[in-house]
Amino acid sequence: MTKTKSISIVSGKGGVGKSNLTLNLGYTLSRMEHNTLIVDCDMGLANMDVLLGIAPEKHMQDILISGDKPEDIVMPIVHEGAAKLDLIPANSGLASFAELDSASISIVCSALNPFAEEYDYLLLDIGAGISPTALSFAAATSMRILVVTPEPTSMTNGYAFMKVLTAKYDVSSFYILVNQVETLTEAQHTFNRLCTVCERFLRLKPTFLGAVHNDPKVLEAVRMQRPFMELFPQSQASKDCQSLAKGLLRLENPATEEDLENGPLVPRSLRSGDETAQK
Ligand SMILES: Nc1ncnc2c1ncn2[C@@H]1O[C@H](COP(=O)(O)OP(=O)(O)OP(=O)(O)O)[C@@H](O)[C@H]1O
Ligand SMILES: [Mg+2]
Repeated sequence: MTKTKSISIVSGKGGVGKSNLTLNLGYTLSRMEHNTLIVDCDMGLANMDVLLGIAPEKHMQDILISGDKPEDIVMPIVHEGAAKLDLIPANSGLASFAELDSASISIVCSALNPFAEEYDYLLLDIGAGISPTALSFAAATSMRILVVTPEPTSMTNGYAFMKVLTAKYDVSSFYILVNQVETLTEAQHTFNRLCTVCERFLRLKPTFLGAVHNDPKVLEAVRMQRPFMELFPQSQASKDCQSLAKGLLRLENPATEEDLENGPLVPRSLRSGDETAQK
């Protein structure tokens, strides 16, 4: 039975901070002595390599193109201390691999599963929006973190993401992370508004995971191509990220026993009559 907790980091709207939060959450978890693997699943516009200033030779798409194994592709990010942080990067701009069909998703998940077993956490950085690929990866993990900002457009798109995932894959558990807030009250207010519409129209109750403040150190770290947790551990964003990681560690793995037998990633089939998602 797998011990690996699989988490997808998703959003309706683009540019809300998914990749930065995935990287820094992964960094924090590894510093807290939990082996962590990040997989860049933004197949069209992958950029985890850019956030780290590395130039990978092999990419996640090579699993499909040439049957490469994750161990041939993986890159070490942090390998000192008690636990490691590794990355499976993806290639950006490969138009024919921007969208994966369900057979390809299954191949990728089957290849990743045995490899990911050696980690405590598997974090998938997913492309923004409700593309079939984003939805399939999000449905395959045991937990989903939906990133929103207090912007109304980010909230409505986040709501749309949950609506479509629930309709298509019958997935109803979501953790909400509110990014780029000025105050914790703003974060709580954003979550409450989202939660109210979810309860009313989708009959689901997302859980508040936490918030990250708007912090100029995030952009500074992006420019320096290293995690802000590493460069600016005393910054507000780093303190928030620490709290998020501590919150995650307190959570039980929500996967069912059957899922745990199958591995950290379990591709789901589309719910029949999923056209409700179009309404
Ligand atoms: N907490 C924050 N404080 C300040 N700026 C932030 C914060 N989080 C994200 N940003 C800014 O938002 C930009 C976009 O972040 P990021 O690339 O992580 O978003 P994304 O959701 O992964 O985007 P995409 O949907 O394109 O994949 C960052 O380069 C940074 O400038
Ligand atoms: Mg991104």
